[in-house]
Amino acid sequence: MVRLVLIACVGALLRACPLSAACPAGCECSEAAQTVKCVSKELQSIPLGIPGYARSLFITGNRISRIGPGSFRGLENVTNLSLSNNRITEVQSQAFSSLRGLRSLDLSGNQLFVIHPEALVVSAGSLRELNLSRALYNRSCIGDLAVALRWGALGSLQTLDLSGNRLVLLPSGIFGHVPNLRRLVLANNSLVVVHNGSFSGLERLELLDLTHNSLKTLGEDALGEFELLSGALLLLGENPYACTCGVEDFAAWLNSSRARVTDAERLVCSSPAALRGTPILGLGGQILGCHDGPVGEGARLALQTSYAFLGVVLGFVGVIFLFVLYLNRRGIKKWIVDTRDACHDVLEGYHYRYEIDSDPRLGHISTSGDL
Ligand SMILES: *[C@@H]1O[C@H](CO)[C@@H](O)[C@H](O)[C@H]1NC(C)=O
Ligand SMILES: *[C@@H]1O[C@H](CO)[C@@H](O)[C@H](O)[C@H]1NC(C)=O
Ligand SMILES: *[C@@H]1O[C@H](CO)[C@@H](O)[C@H](O)[C@H]1NC(C)=O
Ligand SMILES: *[C@@H]1O[C@H](CO)[C@@H](O)[C@H](O)[C@H]1NC(C)=O
Ligand SMILES: *[C@@H]1O[C@H](CO)[C@@H](O)[C@H](O)[C@H]1NC(C)=O
Ligand SMILES: *[C@@H]1O[C@H](CO)[C@@H](O)[C@H](O)[C@H]1NC(C)=O
Ligand SMILES: *[C@@H]1O[C@H](CO)[C@@H](O)[C@H](O)[C@H]1NC(C)=O
Repeated sequence: MVRLVLIACVGALLRACPLSAACPAGCECSEAAQTVKCVSKELQSIPLGIPGYARSLFITGNRISRIGPGSFRGLENVTNLSLSNNRITEVQSQAFSSLRGLRSLDLSGNQLFVIHPEALVVSAGSLRELNLSRALYNRSCIGDLAVALRWGALGSLQTLDLSGNRLVLLPSGIFGHVPNLRRLVLANNSLVVVHNGSFSGLERLELLDLTHNSLKTLGEDALGEFELLSGALLLLGENPYACTCGVEDFAAWLNSSRARVTDAERLVCSSPAALRGTPILGLGGQILGCHDGPVGEGARLALQTSYAFLGVVLGFVGVIFLFVLYLNRRGIKKWIVDTRDACHDVLEGYHYRYEIDSDPRLGHISTSGDL
């Protein structure tokens, strides 16, 4: 009898054991929803014993500082993993590589400082969405992240959120190994420039968000980059645009790209003070005063140039004239000789007549005849 009860108890325990072990302390598990949530429980590491049925795994708002390589062993069915708002500073090599079906990884709201080159490797290249919003300790970490993006085999990544990381510059070619990216969110950083090559390799991009940055001008390089992203909608608002003479090209480009820049109407000047709040779309050269200073200078220069040109032309004509004279020197000599001869003949004629006229004998006759 006692034995039987014991066996029954052990049986119950065995049945109960997998159930109690099925959900780690501090977590809520729902087999029906295939979801495990361990939210705001001051956990210091990824809990052990997360059930294998989990597809969505939320371990958020805890105090986890490090993600090691064995953290997610046996969780082959997880598609969505959120580790947002922990205090993660280090992600080790291959930390997520056992998550074979991982499609969405949210690391937002952390302080990543040590990012190993193979930190983002997800086997089978299944990752579609990576959220690194407010995830970097400081902007110096972008270099390590660029390396991890390169080595992560993220060929199927479609969405990358890098907002709120105080980024000032993007390492050149940082997106060269995520060729299928559709959405790139760089909002709420401190980006000051878009270099030639900043977005190379993103031919499939559908949306680029650069709002809330520190862009003062978008020059030839930036506009060239945007032209390469021909299929992408652009968000460029909330930047401190400087409406000095150089902004003309940008304004013209913006006018012709209104269909792509979805917030084109909301782009306004921040400086100079006189133009603060003026929509960039409405800017014409005359408002900017670019045609008074530099163009007045230009006109003066043009005038000087035309005087110099006139001088050169006159000199040239003179040289040609002398040259023609030189070439024609025989003809001219002949003409001079002919003219002289002709004159001579005429003079001789006069001389003859004069001699006749002055012949006293004839003169006398005629004079007397006149009288
Ligand atoms: C993953 O899901 C499949 C199918 O839903 C299931 O057969 C398998 O047991 C699950 N893996 C684990 C570790 O539970
Ligand atoms: C899982 O991630 C995908 C994006 O890859 C998203 O569309 C979906 O809503 C997420 N599911 C859950 C439960 O968060
Ligand atoms: C990334 O996470 C933040 C919150 O941490 C959220 O506001 C944002 O929408 C997420 N980005 C994407 C692309 O889902
Ligand atoms: C980022 O943090 C590291 C370590 O504290 C520091 O050496 C580096 O100068 C910081 N970078 C910036 C841009 O503040
Ligand atoms: C921008 O990012 C900072 C951190 O860098 C964050 O504190 C702030 O809430 C963010 N603002 C918006 C509008 O997302
Ligand atoms: C940008 O760089 C490419 C080569 O890397 C070059 O062919 C192109 O002319 C450059 N564009 C500008 C505007 O400098
Ligand atoms: C903007 O483009 C339209 C044609 O799309 C043109 O008629 C208009 O003059 C342009 N405005 C400026 C300020 O360039």
